[in-house]
Amino acid sequence: MPNKGEVKVMAQKETNNLRSALNKHCIKNCNKEDRASTTEEGICIITSSIIDGDLVRCVGKWSYKKIHWLTRYCSIFANGMKNKWKLNYIEICCGPGRCIIREDGREIDGTSLAIINHEVFNYFNKAIFIDNNSNSVNALNRRIDYLGKHYIAKAVIGDYNDIVGVKEILSDVPKQCLNLVFIDPTDCSIPFSLIEAMSSALGNADFIINMAIGTDLTRNIRHAILDANFIKVKMKYIDFLGNDDYFSNKEVINAAKQDDNSIMRNLFIEEYKRRLGAIGYVYTGIEKVEHYYDLLFASKHSLGLNFWKKSQHVEPSGQARMDF
Ligand SMILES: C[S@@+](CC[C@H](N)C(=O)[O-])C[C@H]1O[C@@H](n2cnc3c(N)ncnc32)[C@H](O)[C@@H]1O
Repeated sequence: MPNKGEVKVMAQKETNNLRSALNKHCIKNCNKEDRASTTEEGICIITSSIIDGDLVRCVGKWSYKKIHWLTRYCSIFANGMKNKWKLNYIEICCGPGRCIIREDGREIDGTSLAIINHEVFNYFNKAIFIDNNSNSVNALNRRIDYLGKHYIAKAVIGDYNDIVGVKEILSDVPKQCLNLVFIDPTDCSIPFSLIEAMSSALGNADFIINMAIGTDLTRNIRHAILDANFIKVKMKYIDFLGNDDYFSNKEVINAAKQDDNSIMRNLFIEEYKRRLGAIGYVYTGIEKVEHYYDLLFASKHSLGLNFWKKSQHVEPSGQARMDF
């Protein structure tokens, strides 16, 4: 394992301090087939972090944008609400806290550590990080301890399919608070019943949900609509949306027959927003992360959406956006 003396902090301009460092031991550019032998459940088994020797998750370079949008929203939300509410942060699918970008071997903080290391983190009362990978949870807890943040934050093993288990974990979250929930899976397999259960368990909660529209959905949705052999995938999407209305929608079936991915995707997102609206989440917004996934914001209050729109004003590069 390299020693800390080898750390080379990159000069690249960052809007966040993600503690970027070049890891010379990354073999770089692993494709999907390579990753079958260079990673285990997404965690690199070739190298570990050069800043703390712990686990790193292998990611594509677009991950930086996801972290940017999440932390920008979190910062505006925390600054805007800290004097009105006690705030909690909950992340499902938190990973080990540190990522390595396969294109260039640069290490950065993942979403969970980017939030913990952000200057607004001290405005939070409590933060709970959930993942079903025990190695990731243990690594994140070691990092939380090392940063001296264990009095606010803890990582816990949990499966988002186990609604009762997640509710049990959330029973630890103080009541009468305003909660920001970030859910970051790799596919569209978050049961809608999880969102309903979290919303009712937490009371006041705004959500940012990573929807794997450009990857999972684009690859599979047409088969799920038209091919009876894809019943398992179809059931996953029904579980995600919380009912099967999407699959009986004539527009959806026509789009599938015409192989129009864009219409199938848009109708899927619209159906998800409709389902969220039915449980009170009528204020929604979307930020696309290249062609990979969509970050969907959902709140019961217009102020939440105002914060989200404000967070979209500055590009990951730090440039003001021209289209806003
Ligand atoms: C895209 S990664 C998250 C990365 C992390 N948020 C970051 O930016 O560094 C997805 C995570 O979901 C976790 N995961 C997969 N299935 C899960 C499940 N059923 N319940 C909870 N976590 C799960 C994986 O272990 C992985 O850490």
